[in-house]
Amino acid sequence: MSDDLDALRGETAEALAAAADLRAWDAVRVGTLGKSGRLTGLLKGLGAVPAEERRERGAALNRLKAELEAAIEARRVSLEGAALEARLASERMDVSLPPRPHAPGGAGEGGIHPISRTIEELTAIFGAMGFRVAEGPDIESDWLNFSALNIPEHHPARQDHDTFYLPAGADGRRPVLRTHTSPVQARTMLGQEPPIRVICPGRTWRADHDATHSPMFHQVEGLVIDRGITLGHLKGCIIDFLRAFFGIGDLPVRFRASYFPFTEPSMEVDIGWNRKTGELGKAKGGENDWLEILGSGMVHPRVLANCGIDAREWQGFAFGMGIERITMLKHGMPDLRPFYESDLRWLRHWAADPLAPPSLTEGV
Ligand code: PHE
Repeated sequence: MSDDLDALRGETAEALAAAADLRAWDAVRVGTLGKSGRLTGLLKGLGAVPAEERRERGAALNRLKAELEAAIEARRVSLEGAALEARLASERMDVSLPPRPHAPGGAGEGGIHPISRTIEELTAIFGAMGFRVAEGPDIESDWLNFSALNIPEHHPARQDHDTFYLPAGADGRRPVLRTHTSPVQARTMLGQEPPIRVICPGRTWRADHDATHSPMFHQVEGLVIDRGITLGHLKGCIIDFLRAFFGIGDLPVRFRASYFPFTEPSMEVDIGWNRKTGELGKAKGGENDWLEILGSGMVHPRVLANCGIDAREWQGFAFGMGIERITMLKHGMPDLRPFYESDLRWLRHWAADPLAPPSLTEGV
């Protein structure tokens, strides 16, 4: 075997071993097997070899060619394997970890504000009862906030609401920041035919500020309009909601006669709690203390008429409650003001996990 073939074999093996990546490997391949590669050159030179040596040298060159092709291919496979290993190592992930750091509001992680969380929870509960969500604007006409709801111009109930009035529009009437979510009842009845089953969560406004009142707060309204709706439906719906929301299966619920201009009869709803400990539920071995939690009643026939619904055919009930209030009661929060102070310590403490939306099967 000629020395030049041995040299080519040895040098190619060295060059392949030194090729650290596919680009260097390709240079070796081209420099050996390419059009002007070293082996190709030797093959081309065969013609100049004396006839008696040509046969033997030809066979030797072909063996070397097969050998070098195999060595070059083997190096490609090993370099590609190493490149993949390196990528896997640098992009390593631990599939046994939870999808995100579990701590709500943890480092760099967002959390769900307790008000949003309560809205999600009550939407899940009422959603399961067949309600859909309706919305209305914060800036409302005087007519929808009051008059349509049977609170005429000089009615004393208007004074109870500590209303924020805005400058008068072209019609000379002053719009208001809605004082309750009840105008969304009127909007819904004006906008669709019964049967109706909606809840209307949203912001509401009253000029009032202390530990349990904020000028901006949230309410959720409920409205059901159908044929043959009775006080029994109202009671069943509200009792079921309160027990599901607070997660107390035997939560005592009391209905107490009251007055709202837009419902008749009207009822305030109380739940059982322990005045001393603030704990909700059945009193253990004593009388229940009662805590007022929401307003409700059968929709007044005049409200139905104002909204174009024939009260001889359709009846219904409505209710409204404060979202901050039920959130504070559910979680034992003493003060309403931190809800809007954007204090990260408070938010991190009370925020809900964004990846665990409320579900009825797990109990909201
Ligand atoms: N809108 C009433 C309030 O803000 C609550 C309510 C709603 C009462 C619906 C009865 C029916 O106090």
